[in-house]
Amino acid sequence: MASITNPNQAILVATRHNKKESIITICWHMRTSFRPELFAISVGKKRFSYGLIKNSKCFSVNFMPFNLEKEIIYCGTHSGKNVDKFKETGLTKEECSKIDCPRIKEALGYFECKVVKKIITGDHVIFVGEVLTSKLNKKGKRLFQVEGLKFTTTLN
Ligand SMILES: Cc1cc2nc3c(=O)[nH]c(=O)nc-3n(C[C@H](O)[C@H](O)[C@H](O)COP(=O)(O)O)c2cc1C
Repeated sequence: MASITNPNQAILVATRHNKKESIITICWHMRTSFRPELFAISVGKKRFSYGLIKNSKCFSVNFMPFNLEKEIIYCGTHSGKNVDKFKETGLTKEECSKIDCPRIKEALGYFECKVVKKIITGDHVIFVGEVLTSKLNKKGKRLFQVEGLKFTTTLN
């Protein structure tokens, strides 16, 4: 199926609950409303991040530059249950302004989201987040998943 739908942009979603933090790589995501501004992510029920988002009811969406492929792969192949992904990747933690959650400083842009709806869809759960604040820090090429750990980018 991925060979039909992809490429999809690989983004990093950061979460925190009870001082436990994680960063998860997500390719299944979409904007889903202008007013209010909503953004949805699909998270596997077995992911460590799933429990953090379910309990904290918030998450930050970090749109990463193409050159951080190694860090994006790390966050998509290791669980926050066993490792501190901020420490292991060297990504810089910033505090969100509207939610109790970390953000990633190296992101080209970000959303700070409050969960307003949870939809169970098979083995994944869609968290619909209201975007409380967003910022584009700078323009740049992004990373798109072709299949597995094969990626591509855009011309500009
Ligand atoms: C390119 C890529 C895209 C991914 N997209 C998703 C996704 O959309 N939803 C999801 O639940 N997991 C996705 N994953 C898998 C998680 O990122 C991975 O299982 C991660 O280790 C979970 O971390 P956690 O246990 O700390 O939450 C993706 C992995 C990669 C490498």
